[in-house]
Parts: sequence; structure tokens; C-alpha cells
Amino acid sequence: MSVVELHKGLDNIIVKETVLSYVDGERGRLYYVGYPIEELVEKSTYEEVCFLLLHRRLPKKEELASFDRELKKEREIPKEVIDALNLMPRNAHPMDLLKAGIALLALYDPELNVHEKEANIRKSIRLISKTATLTAYISRYIRGLDYVQPSKEMSHAANFLHMVTGEEIDELSAKVMDVAFILHAEHELPASSMAALTAASTLSDLYSAILAGVAALKGPLHGGANEKALEMILEIGSPERAEQYVIDALRAKKRVMGFGHRVYKSYDPRARIFRKYLEKLSEVKGNKTLLMIADEVEKVMTREMKGKGIFPNIDFYSGSVFTLLGIPKEIFTPFFATARVVGWAAHVLEYWEDNRLIRPRARYSGPLDLQYPSVENR
Ligand code: ACO
Repeated sequence: MSVVELHKGLDNIIVKETVLSYVDGERGRLYYVGYPIEELVEKSTYEEVCFLLLHRRLPKKEELASFDRELKKEREIPKEVIDALNLMPRNAHPMDLLKAGIALLALYDPELNVHEKEANIRKSIRLISKTATLTAYISRYIRGLDYVQPSKEMSHAANFLHMVTGEEIDELSAKVMDVAFILHAEHELPASSMAALTAASTLSDLYSAILAGVAALKGPLHGGANEKALEMILEIGSPERAEQYVIDALRAKKRVMGFGHRVYKSYDPRARIFRKYLEKLSEVKGNKTLLMIADEVEKVMTREMKGKGIFPNIDFYSGSVFTLLGIPKEIFTPFFATARVVGWAAHVLEYWEDNRLIRPRARYSGPLDLQYPSVENR
């Protein structure tokens, strides 16, 4: 069969059935396993959302308690991985340290190459817990700070924030961190999930699939946008300077980071939720500067991009939220990866139930049957 249609960027190509999440780009709605994201953020926890994604149903009370115990049990990372981390360049980008760290974690997972479903769930749990510890350790390593041991009691989100900041975590910060984890947990098939699926479709192992996801998330058109969006807000510096900055950027044909999305052509619901929590945090912390600059940027972008379907995405407000929580900006994208591990794993588990090797085609547009010239005659 000849391949005739070219789908640059795989736009609108469906490669799998899923019940994990539904992104309604026209109406700006997001659902995990049928539950609206707004409900989950308000009523659920990240632990429960992880169960929901891995098992595709909400847990019963005892199931949730046991799942939570498993997650807590897996928080520590092997001493060998910590020793290896201590040898890595401190000035490397944390996403590169994270790739190296997850590759090392794979070597110490006793079930790395056991491909049964239950083993894959256990590996997913290990990956969710250990990646959080790894990211927190990386955040301290790059700042030359001692590691903070994982707690055996705190929630996943509060423990992560505690390991990053070394501080006691108040109720609002724990809630906002949990919301951030839930909002980043899953999002259908962005480039990173597609990369994870591509690796998984060869029947490689779960860690390799997650590593492919991390690698794809690194770029500024995907997970890297949160760090860039915050840098832009800091560079703008005050709300009065926002309008000119945005106009200059658009005139110079630059992308304003944290705006636009391949699927959402209306407001990204995750950005709306983050905006709400940014407002709460700003009030409690007594620092409204980031919120005011961000609001101004959004106002000007909405005016300038009218009709183009360009709105803030999840990365626009998240960086300001993270900053108020005390998370250094170098860790924003690794945090995104940490929270998304569950989404990647859930997609891989779902795909493996009806696996097909992913092997698209490229349309050849070069010449054929060229005469091979000797090296002297080129
Ligand atoms: N700033 C300015 N203009 C933009 C932006 C932006 N952030 N995003 C899109 N546009 C413009 C494009 O220039 C284009 O204009 P044109 O038709 O006059 O050429 C039009 O809007 C359509 O843009 P596309 O690039 O075709 O949209 P696409 O679906 O390919 O891009 C993307 C999506 C890559 C996210 C893009 O919006 C972008 O680069 N945004 C900035 C980076 C970012 O925030 N990434 C995070 C995405 S969310 C996530 O990964 C978690």
C-alpha cells in the first residue's frame, strides 16, 4: 500500500483507544477516567488519582489505604543511586540528572524485566515514589544542600515539598502541592506520552518507556515551558512593563511561553485552577507581584491574539505557584516529569493490553538511483 497522506506533527492522528483521560480542546474540559479535573482537584488526592489511573477506577477505602502504604514504603532510593548522583556534575540541567537517575533506578529494580501486569503495577508504584525522592534530592544537590530523608507519614505531595525545601509544610502549601501533582498527572497523548508509548510498543521495559517520556518532556515546547514562562515573568519585573514586553515579543515573532496548546483552542482548565491557587497563595504569602504581572501578560495576550485560540496553558501560572511554594525554577520541569510518571505508566499498561509496534512511515522526497561518486570526485 502506498503511503500518501502526510501528517506533520501527527496532528489529529489517533493511535490508541484510552479511558485514562479526555481532553476536550474546544470546550476547555479535562477528565481523568471520566471524572472532571475540577472535582478531582477539590475532592481527591494525588494518591487516589494514581490508583484511578493505574486501575482505571476509584479505590475502595481499604484499597486506598493499602495503595498509600505501598507508595510510602517505596520512597527511599538505593544508596548506590545516591552515591552515583553525588558524582554527577552539579551544574548539569536537572532534567539530565533526572534521566541519569531514573536509568540508575532501573538497574536496582528486581522486577525490571518481569512483564506481568501485577509486576508492572508494582514498578509503577516504585517509579512514582522514587522519582519524587530523586527529583527532591536533585533539587538539593544542585544547590549544594544536604538531602532531606523522605517522611514515612506525610502525603506524597507534602513529603515532596518537605524534601525539596527542608521545611515544615503548612496545610495550604500541602494542598496546593497536591493540586499541582493532580493537574500534571495525565494529559492524553502529548509528545512525552507518545515517546513513552513508542518505546513501550517494542516490548521494552517500563523504566525505558518512562525515560523516553522524560527525554521528550525536557524541551521548551513541552514541559520546559514552565521554567521559561517564569523567567519571562521575572524579566518583565513589574505589571507596568508587561504590555510593552508582550507587544515587542509578538512583533519579533517570538513565542510567549505558557501560551497556546496543540489541543486546547479555548482556556486550559488546568491554567484556570492554577490561577485560583496562585491568588490564594499570593494572599497568604503577602506577595502579589508574580500574580499581577501574569494577569497583565494574560490580558495583553488575550487582546493581541484574539480569534487565534491562544490562551494560557498549564505552564503559565504553575511556575509562579511553585516559586511561592519555595521550589527552585530548575526543578519545575523535573517536577512535571515526577507527577506525570503515573500518566506515562498508565498509558503504557493500557497499550500493552493490545500492543502494536509503533512504526509510522516517512515520505521519501529525495532522488533515487544516483551514481555513486568516488571520494576524490565529490
Ligand atoms: N506565543 C505567540 N504566538 C503563538 C504562541 C505563543 N505562545 N503559540 C502559538 N502562537 C501562534 C503561532 O505563531 C501561530 O501563528 P500564525 O498562524 O500567525 O503562524 C498560531 O499561533 C498557531 O500556532 P502553532 O505553532 O501552529 O500551534 P501549535 O499547535 O503547533 O503549537 C505550542 C502549540 C507548541 C504549545 C505553541 O503554542 C507554543 O510554542 N507555545 C509556547 C510554548 C509552551 O507554552 N509550551 C507548553 C505547551 S503545554 C505543555 O506542553 C504542557
